[in-house]
Amino acid sequence: MSGTVSPGPRWPVAILGSGNIGTDLMVKIQGSDGPLALAAMVGIDPDSDGLARARQLGVPTTAEGVDGLVQMPEFPDIRLVFDATSASAHYANWDRLADTGVRVLDLTPAAVGPYAVPVVNLDDHLDVPNLNLVTCGGQATVPIVAAVAQVGLVSYAEIVSSIASKSAGPGTRANIDEFTETTAAAVVSVGGARRGRAMMILNPADPPVMMRNTVYCLVDGDVDPGAIEQSIEVMVDRVRAYVPGYRLKQRVQFEFFTADNPLFIPETGTFVGTRVTTLIEVTGAADHLPAYAGNLDIMTAAAKATAERIALHTKRTAGASA
Ligand SMILES: NC(=O)c1ccc[n+]([C@@H]2O[C@H](COP(=O)([O-])OP(=O)(O)OC[C@H]3O[C@@H](n4cnc5c(N)ncnc54)[C@H](O)[C@@H]3O)[C@@H](O)[C@H]2O)c1
Repeated sequence: MSGTVSPGPRWPVAILGSGNIGTDLMVKIQGSDGPLALAAMVGIDPDSDGLARARQLGVPTTAEGVDGLVQMPEFPDIRLVFDATSASAHYANWDRLADTGVRVLDLTPAAVGPYAVPVVNLDDHLDVPNLNLVTCGGQATVPIVAAVAQVGLVSYAEIVSSIASKSAGPGTRANIDEFTETTAAAVVSVGGARRGRAMMILNPADPPVMMRNTVYCLVDGDVDPGAIEQSIEVMVDRVRAYVPGYRLKQRVQFEFFTADNPLFIPETGTFVGTRVTTLIEVTGAADHLPAYAGNLDIMTAAAKATAERIALHTKRTAGASA
């Protein structure tokens, strides 16, 4: 028997949250001939642009939030719900959905379930009921930290994500603290750094700026810069397989700190080793907002790729036990 799984019927999914992220994800799923079928778009504002666009696309909608979703005739068939609301709304949504048996993919930084970054650790979490996709900054930078950590010991990693203010909806603005906490935690637990820190800049420039990410890694002791650069380039290619606009803005930079010339870090003292700086730019596919909003794509493309992998895995598991 071959290892392939017949496509079978498409997997019905729903999106909670009809804002920037929810709308971008909807357009991506609707434009794809992959295994997912969008069965419901859920908001709380009947006049929102996202729900209007869903209706135009023929997607069933409700403006009654998660309670409206579970009462929709489509709900019994829905296998997975994407939550693109906000961290605080996610807690209530999960309370309502946890006992229904539906899988939940959390695009907010609520961090109820374990963190997943598709190219780093998704295989460890294909069966969990609630999976957290960290943040846009996390999806853009954790793979880079992991690539460096494959080659050397990363004693500290710091990431700075800069996004256009116009691309951050009220849901994003409501959970900036959660963004920094969740991203820093994922830099450590998924990226493999000993310590991590994350920052976000909402840049109000007009015309809007592209999503940019700076990743600093302090690597202890002697390392091979060529091996680190190669590991990063391989990782960038792997992320680009599902986020086409993801790229190195320029070559990876190295600074060397020796015992004669150490780096002084106020919290930890002197550091001897290599500082690796990686600059990433993400150009969006302009599915919802223009191309500057790569921060939408890095999250929605990761969410779509993750859900597709879960669908395939679930079909395979069901086939094996049949
Ligand atoms: N914008 C980004 O770049 C980005 C990237 C990655 C992750 N995120 C995360 O995605 C989430 C959404 O961000 P956004 O920028 O799309 O915000 P947004 O404000 O544009 O969208 C949130 C939507 O959710 C709806 N909503 C709020 N509470 C709800 C509830 N209880 N039930 C159903 N719908 C509800 C709102 O009406 C709104 O339409 C945030 O948690 C944010 O941190 C945002």
